[in-house]
Amino acid sequence: MIDVDQIVRPHPPFTIKTQSGASIETNNIVLATGLPILDRTGHFACCKVLVSYCLAFDINQHEIERSKDKKKILENMFINLHEDSEGTLSLRIAKDANGDPLVVVASQGHEQGDPPLGCISKQYQAAEDLARKYIPYLGNIRYKWSAEDFKAADGIPYIGHVLRGSQGLYVATAFHKWGLAMGAGAAGVLADLIEGREDNPLAKTFDARRWDLSASLVDIVKAQAHVGKHFIGDRIKEQFNVPDIEELKPGCGGVCHIFKHQPATSPIIPEDSLSEPDKAPRVVGGYRCNDGSLYAVDLTCTHLGCHVNWNDGDRSWDCPCHGSRFAPGGEVIHGPATKPLTRYHPETGIELGPAPSSPERVKGESIGSL
Ligand SMILES: Cc1cc2nc3c(=O)[nH]c(=O)nc-3n(C[C@H](O)[C@H](O)[C@H](O)COP(=O)(O)OP(=O)(O)OC[C@H]3O[C@@H](n4cnc5c(N)ncnc54)[C@H](O)[C@@H]3O)c2cc1C
Ligand code: FES
Repeated sequence: MIDVDQIVRPHPPFTIKTQSGASIETNNIVLATGLPILDRTGHFACCKVLVSYCLAFDINQHEIERSKDKKKILENMFINLHEDSEGTLSLRIAKDANGDPLVVVASQGHEQGDPPLGCISKQYQAAEDLARKYIPYLGNIRYKWSAEDFKAADGIPYIGHVLRGSQGLYVATAFHKWGLAMGAGAAGVLADLIEGREDNPLAKTFDARRWDLSASLVDIVKAQAHVGKHFIGDRIKEQFNVPDIEELKPGCGGVCHIFKHQPATSPIIPEDSLSEPDKAPRVVGGYRCNDGSLYAVDLTCTHLGCHVNWNDGDRSWDCPCHGSRFAPGGEVIHGPATKPLTRYHPETGIELGPAPSSPERVKGESIGSL
């Protein structure tokens, strides 16, 4: 769960403030939050955001019993088991809370924002279709989710001091989907640096300060080209064919219009009546819960101001620039953003302030990733 709100002092001893109100003093901090939550490290500018889709299926016992590879399937994991123009397919067996096996399939990975976020349910469908085409022993889908990882412009993870001259502040990021294996190596490098042993040969290779020195400008510009595209392009797209928030169906979200009304102030008019709406509509992110109630949020990502897009597969607001994700009601579910989206009253259009820190579970409904 996202909790660190900010790191107050730039030099040790640092004070970490959490969203739950606690403070922690420490001489050393390792930023291992995916992309660092501190913007001044600059790493967001030289990383690509990679998204993968996972589906967990029950096992079709009848089919697996028929397979001569049953033991091999149940005891191993398979990376890029299938790879062609339809996508790649990786799988492993996991266990549910009762110890029953599930087949976890990952497929249809892409860079964040490409394909457009409005089409994410199609990515899940493509992943399911591919899995069912090549894996005969899949039962019902029990869970589905998407995950993000990051790739440095030069492909090498960033591990070590965050900036030139910084003391006590370290980073480990951009593992390019190999962080489970690389995490142990990163821990070794970081432990040596924290203990003052600067002679670890890997420290130079992974030096997290190299982005301002040796990573080619071309790589960084390429990695960030999509940021400019989304920063401007998404704002232009939002001006066209935008429905009124009232048109949203239950369980659906998207970019919508709300019209700003002024609540009536006259004592002789009932308090809950509203004035005529302003002519200019406000463009917001709308979501209608299964019980019919509405959320309206500001589309401006609280990280660096790109506009978030609706992810119809996971029911979340995702930022195409550096991968921050927010629940339908605006709460942070994935950094680098640490602040929630601003909420509006869905009927009056009046600004209500930031969404709460933790995702709400509204009336039995799953909010965020399903
Ligand atoms: C489908 C798929 C398959 C993969 N397969 C492999 C594999 O076979 N082998 C392999 O080595 N790697 C694999 N990986 C990659 C691996 O999972 C990632 O590289 C690794 O998890 C990245 O680790 P991380 O610590 O950088 O980020 P994460 O694992 O994302 O951890 C970041 C943590 O920081 C927390 N956080 C964020 N913001 C805050 C905040 N403000 N306050 C407090 N906490 C915060 C988050 O909650 C999270 O727990 C795979 C990845 C995917 C998506
Ligand atoms: S994640 Fe950086 S602007 Fe949204």
